[in-house]
Amino acid sequence: MNTKTRLPPEAEIIIFGASGDLTSRKLIPAILRLYERGAISEKTKVVGVARTAQSSESWRGELSRAMADTLKNPTTAATWQRAQNNIHYFVGDITDRNSLSKLDAELNAMNAIDRVNRVYYLSTSPTIYEAAVSNLGLCGMADEVRGQRRVIVEKPFGTDLETAHRLNRAIHQVFQEKQVFRIDHYLGKETVQNLFVLRFGNAIFEPLWNRHYIDYVEITVAEEGLVGRRGGYYDSAGVLRDMFQNHLLQLLMIVAMESPARFDAELIRDEKVKVLQAVRPIREADLADCGMRGQYDGYRSEPGVAADSQTETFAALRLFVDNWRWKGVPFYLRSGKGMSCRTTQIVIRFREAPHLLFNGGEQCPEGNKLVIQIQPAEGIQLHFQAKVPNENMAMRNAELEFRFDRKSSVMPEAYERLLLDALHGDASLFTRSDEVELAWQIMDPIIKGWSNGISPLYQYEPGYWGPKECGDWIARDNRSWFDTCPVL
Ligand code: BG6
Repeated sequence: MNTKTRLPPEAEIIIFGASGDLTSRKLIPAILRLYERGAISEKTKVVGVARTAQSSESWRGELSRAMADTLKNPTTAATWQRAQNNIHYFVGDITDRNSLSKLDAELNAMNAIDRVNRVYYLSTSPTIYEAAVSNLGLCGMADEVRGQRRVIVEKPFGTDLETAHRLNRAIHQVFQEKQVFRIDHYLGKETVQNLFVLRFGNAIFEPLWNRHYIDYVEITVAEEGLVGRRGGYYDSAGVLRDMFQNHLLQLLMIVAMESPARFDAELIRDEKVKVLQAVRPIREADLADCGMRGQYDGYRSEPGVAADSQTETFAALRLFVDNWRWKGVPFYLRSGKGMSCRTTQIVIRFREAPHLLFNGGEQCPEGNKLVIQIQPAEGIQLHFQAKVPNENMAMRNAELEFRFDRKSSVMPEAYERLLLDALHGDASLFTRSDEVELAWQIMDPIIKGWSNGISPLYQYEPGYWGPKECGDWIARDNRSWFDTCPVL
């Protein structure tokens, strides 16, 4: 994951599922910013593939309309004008080999040069990923005779361990692991990457970063929004599949991992995998108390959602990482839709001072906290005790903070970073096959156990911090949530 100072070699980005909203919301804007920054050559071609019959011109028109807000920026609008010659549309179906062969022939004909790298972006319905990769293989489109071939796979990667394993097997029949880039867009976020720097670029945190000084860790991904138009997908997924198996476990891995020997994709992922291997499996007897789940009021009336849906839109989990560094330190993870505000934060809760001299010798109400805010504003806040001026030796909470946007006006979007890394062939911020399977192995028993009714489904009103029972649940461990909307 080095700073990319050189341009990646000339490439073609083929987006399958081009009519989906990810393409216009994230992928094309990210590519435009890469053009604009000069991070990729303006010769980089983008070919959108979908079944809807339309011309390249009409697709570009569709993209322009969908990106109307982005294109209000005159520089971006000028880049878009220049980029249009390189943005093409192909009417095709990845599940149909004839159609793929035609696409391949057209791509080869488009090339002015002999060898050109290709990145295939799978943004179709996940149900056709297996067929898609197998067809790419059968059409010879994974062969690297005419340049490197890489495949980016959007989430969800499987729906449980078995399906993820099957998908990995299908992919590995066609692509080698080094050609595969499984997306978790949280890894593309600047503050998530800053976690690596915070931990491994500073000497002051490391001596404290363990069971001797840390009492517990909270990882919260709260969304104010509801399921909106995604009810159909969401109702079959639920928050555990949608957020925990990927984003929350990724955050846990980076907080808990050991330093790799070098900043190298394999070594980083080796260390992350060791964390998942150390996560204590949830046994049947633990299912009822290892966490809790909830559903917001009104969820069952959302379009695409079953009227008697038992799907959770909120969950909280207590996990333990059984190794020398973390034994006994609970990691509390929670995420939900319809929460009080949008915030993603990691709170490192340090142990209380062992003996207090101040406040008349009473215990300090809370130990120190390091709040790492991933979004919306990105930065870090350290909470500590300071003296109240003029008040004898009384203490009060004080904060030290750092905000990214005060230090840099440019905060690249996650997809910008990830697309660029995939073009460079750097998989540091992508999920490896064993990692994705281990994550499912942790989540599967919980998803299955809870859906069998072991854990009650608490209702909650949108606009708060999930079901009130969640506060009671953590209070039984003598701990509490940091229920604070963005601190920065
Ligand atoms: C996606 C989930 O992976 O992440 C969505 O499918 C969720 O349900 C989204 O809203 C959250 O991403 P971000 O970047 O807005 O936190």
